[in-house]
Amino acid sequence: MEESQIISMPRIGDKAPSFKAVTTQGEINFPQQYAGEWVILFSHPADFTPVCTSEFMTFASMESKFNEAGCKLVGLSVDGLYSHIAWLRTIKEKIEFKGMKNVEVTFPLIEDITMEVAKKYGMLQPGESSTKAVRAVFFIDPKGVIRTIIYYPLSLGRNFDELYRVLIALKTADEFGIATPADWRPGDDVIISPAGSCGKAKDRMDGKEAGLECKDWFFCTKKIDKDVILGKILKKK
Ligand code: BEZ
Repeated sequence: MEESQIISMPRIGDKAPSFKAVTTQGEINFPQQYAGEWVILFSHPADFTPVCTSEFMTFASMESKFNEAGCKLVGLSVDGLYSHIAWLRTIKEKIEFKGMKNVEVTFPLIEDITMEVAKKYGMLQPGESSTKAVRAVFFIDPKGVIRTIIYYPLSLGRNFDELYRVLIALKTADEFGIATPADWRPGDDVIISPAGSCGKAKDRMDGKEAGLECKDWFFCTKKIDKDVILGKILKKK
């Protein structure tokens, strides 16, 4: 594939590129029909391949967890609709993996034989493959803005617990106006914005801001209870 055929990758903070497409759940108008909720758009290299099959079974098994966190899932590969349908039927009828079986994939899987969507999202990386999309993951917020992008090569299956952690961390940062440190999980201390003036830095180091623990003037954390976070982030049942 010629370099010029690849439209540049969207970046964090960009509006998610729009497209209409045929999927295993009917036509979609992306990202417009997901306005008001989070959506993860992810690509995989090809139907009927083992790593992708293990990924789809895992993601499908966790779909309700993502939905409860206010997030929909949408998959894509450079394959046609009938291949998608046949592959998803095979997964449900025949494949058992890590205790998962009879797994039904109910989120939409986009057909993209023209590579139109894959090109718009920079999912084709010729150094890796000129015909297969890499394993890209786009987290798109309720305003249609791309908030996180993660790419994996063909040989590396994704960690879906990490994708869930990213979603919860993004929503927590938005809800509470904080940042999250390395390996953060709900219930761990969160990071507050650094002191913006010498006075504030001094106040923080003098312990004048209640509820903060400062390792130094620029590195202060506070506690937010796990239940408080999950109460805000997860949909009421
Ligand atoms: C797989 O999903 O198993 C796979 C896909 C493309 C290349 C290598 C592996």
